[in-house]
Amino acid sequence: MNQDFKNTLETMAKDVENDLLVCFEKPFDAPAIIVSAMKYSLFAGGKRIRPVLMRKTCELFGGDVENARALSCAIEMIHTYSLIHDDLPAMDDDDLRRGQPSNHKVYGEDIAILAGDALLNYAVETAVDGLQRLPAQQQGNGIQALKILMQASGVGGMIGGQVGDVLAEDDDEMNAEKLKYIHSHKTGAMLTAALLCGAVMANTDSESLEWMRQYGEAIGTAFQIVDDILDVTSDTEVLGKPVGSDQEEHKTTMVSLYGLKSAQEKVEEYHRTAIEALSNLSIDTSFYIQMADFVCNRVY
Ligand code: IPE
Ligand code: IPE
Ligand code: MG
Ligand code: MG
Ligand code: MG
Repeated sequence: MNQDFKNTLETMAKDVENDLLVCFEKPFDAPAIIVSAMKYSLFAGGKRIRPVLMRKTCELFGGDVENARALSCAIEMIHTYSLIHDDLPAMDDDDLRRGQPSNHKVYGEDIAILAGDALLNYAVETAVDGLQRLPAQQQGNGIQALKILMQASGVGGMIGGQVGDVLAEDDDEMNAEKLKYIHSHKTGAMLTAALLCGAVMANTDSESLEWMRQYGEAIGTAFQIVDDILDVTSDTEVLGKPVGSDQEEHKTTMVSLYGLKSAQEKVEEYHRTAIEALSNLSIDTSFYIQMADFVCNRVY
């Protein structure tokens, strides 16, 4: 990975981390355990790719990154809640996340479910709080961006994809089309939303938004196929989550359905699609090209 790109990712992730810490400075009128459980998963690490994408996109399209600050904290809270629930025994039943015991292993299933719920609510509260602080002429864009995030994380996006994923366990009639739905919804939707929210906050024209959407769908789907590949080829230490989880849970993935080689070829195909979409934009796309390289070649 290019050193400058790596530095940018690290610096921006730290910035996100600091803003998330500020979100938890205020006291909550709640039993300490729930706040502790929320913070446990939120501050367990994580690449912070979604908030970084949102902020960088706002910047690259000429917006004021300050305006995307709260919403980018919100997307990371929603992503973290989705991981807490994803690891529950009723779902993927995974004991390790971000290099630490999963939320339910530490706090129990009841508190883990509630911590996920609480992160989702607090995400919306944080986003609305940010909206209220926007300059009046920016509020329309803020509302549009929040709607994009809510749709992408909801039943028409991530949740729908997670349902498809659950239904795909032991599904003898799985096919490429169903798998594409799962990938693009459970993972692609949130990554695409990060880009679109950033672009909308920068008042970007609809044609550019469409190319960003195509780029997002391509890297989002590639992101999940790589995740499925790493579940087979990586090791727990590097990944910070259990390997072999998909096979254990009888998941149908690109790897289980078509084999490692075809899965890798699919990643390359989506990489090409992503770069092609970028070629239609008039802004400097070097960050996005490197992000596509990172997503497709990542080892963790
Ligand atoms: C993990 O997402 C879940 C998937 C969508 C595959 P990330 O790989 O972005 O996880 P963190 O946030 O870095 O832990
Ligand atoms: C993505 O799929 C999960 C979410 C959308 C939360 P996985 O179940 O493969 O993600 P990991 O491997 O547990 O991170
Ligand atoms: Mg899952
Ligand atoms: Mg999982
Ligand atoms: Mg996985």
